[in-house]
Amino acid sequence: MRVLIVGGTRFVGRHLTEAVLAAGHEVTLLHRGRTNADLFPQAVHLLADRNEDLSVLAGHEFDATVDVTGYHPGQITSLAEALGGRGGHYTFVSSVSAYAPPTGPGFTEAAPLLEHTGPVEGVAVTVENYGSLKVLCEQRARELFGPDVLIVRPTYVVGPWDPYGRLDYWAQRLARGGQVLAPGDPALPTQVIDARDQAAWMASMLGRGGVFHTVTPSVPLADLLDGLAREFAPAGTELTWVDDAFLLEHGADSGMLPLWGDGIAADYWVGAADPAAALAAGLVTRPVTESARDLLTVGLPDRLLTPDRESELLMAWTRRS
Ligand SMILES: NC(=O)c1ccc[n+]([C@@H]2O[C@H](COP(=O)([O-])OP(=O)(O)OC[C@H]3O[C@@H](n4cnc5c(N)ncnc54)[C@H](OP(=O)(O)O)[C@@H]3O)[C@@H](O)[C@H]2O)c1
Repeated sequence: MRVLIVGGTRFVGRHLTEAVLAAGHEVTLLHRGRTNADLFPQAVHLLADRNEDLSVLAGHEFDATVDVTGYHPGQITSLAEALGGRGGHYTFVSSVSAYAPPTGPGFTEAAPLLEHTGPVEGVAVTVENYGSLKVLCEQRARELFGPDVLIVRPTYVVGPWDPYGRLDYWAQRLARGGQVLAPGDPALPTQVIDARDQAAWMASMLGRGGVFHTVTPSVPLADLLDGLAREFAPAGTELTWVDDAFLLEHGADSGMLPLWGDGIAADYWVGAADPAAALAAGLVTRPVTESARDLLTVGLPDRLLTPDRESELLMAWTRRS
C-alpha cells in the first residue's frame, strides 16, 4: 500500500512509521522537517507546515492516510482539500480525552463525548480544550473522508522516545529505590499503551474503519506501581502515597508526576476505558513491566520530578501528617 503519514517522526507517529515500513508498505511522511528529520531515509519526505501551504501533496496519490498530528478541525479540512480525494482510507489519532466525564468504569467507544465551547481555529491547545478539539476533528474527519474512517483513541502512550517520559520516570524511580513518592489516589484507574503495540495494530488496520480505544486493561495505579516495584526496585523500597490536595497545594502536576490524575476524582477519570473492541480487532498489548524494562536507561525530560524536589515534598508530607 502507498501510505501517507502526517507527522511520523517524534513518538506515536515515529513508531507508526516503523511499523508501516516493517509491514512492507511504501511510506510518505508529511512534516515540517524540524523533528528528527533525518529519520526514515527509505520514506518519501514531503516538507510542509500543515497550517500553511499543502501544495506539496499535489500529484501524489495514496491508498491510506494516517493523521497523527491533528489538533484543530481546520487542519483536517485543509488536508482533505489538498488531497482532493487522492488520500485513500483515512485514520485519525484522537484520544480518550475526547470523552465527557464522568466516564465510569469500562466505558465503551459509544460513551458521550465532550462538547466544545469557545474559539476553535488558531486557539492554543491546552489541557482544557484538547479533548473537545479532538472531538471536532473526529467529526470533521467523518464529514470529509466518509463514515468508514478509523478513529484511534489512545490512553497514555508509553515506550521509547516518549517526550513526556511517563513510564520512563516510574521505571527509573522505582529502580533507584528508597522512599518513593506515589501520587494521589492509589485506586485511580490507570491504563497505558505501548507505542509499539499501538503502532503494530494501526499498521494492521490500514484500510479498516471504526472507533477504538488503544489501551491496556485498567488497573489501580497502586497495582501498576507495585508491579513495577516488584520487578525493578531494590529491597527496602517503600511507596509513600501523598494525597491530591497536598500535591496540588505544593505546585505538583502530572507533567512532574506522570500517570497522576492531577487530583481529578477517580470516577471522573478516563483511565478505565474498555479495551474489548481493539482486542477483538487484533490489538496485542505487552505487559507494562516489559515496556518499562526498555526504559530503565533512557534520558529523562527535565520536566519530571527531581530527586531533590521529591525529598522536599516527602519531608513536608511527613511533617504535615
Ligand atoms: N502521547 C500520548 O500519551 C497521547 C495520548 C493520546 C493521544 N495522543 C495523540 O498522539 C499524537 C501525538 O503524537 P506524536 O507527537 O508523538 O506524533 P509524531 O507523528 O511522532 O510527531 C509529531 C509529528 O508531527 C510533525 N508536525 C508537527 N507540527 C506540524 C505541522 N504544523 N505541520 C506538519 N507537520 C507537523 C512533526 O514533525 P516536524 O516538527 O518536523 O513538523 C512530527 O513528525 C497526537 O495526535 C496526540 O493527540 C498522544
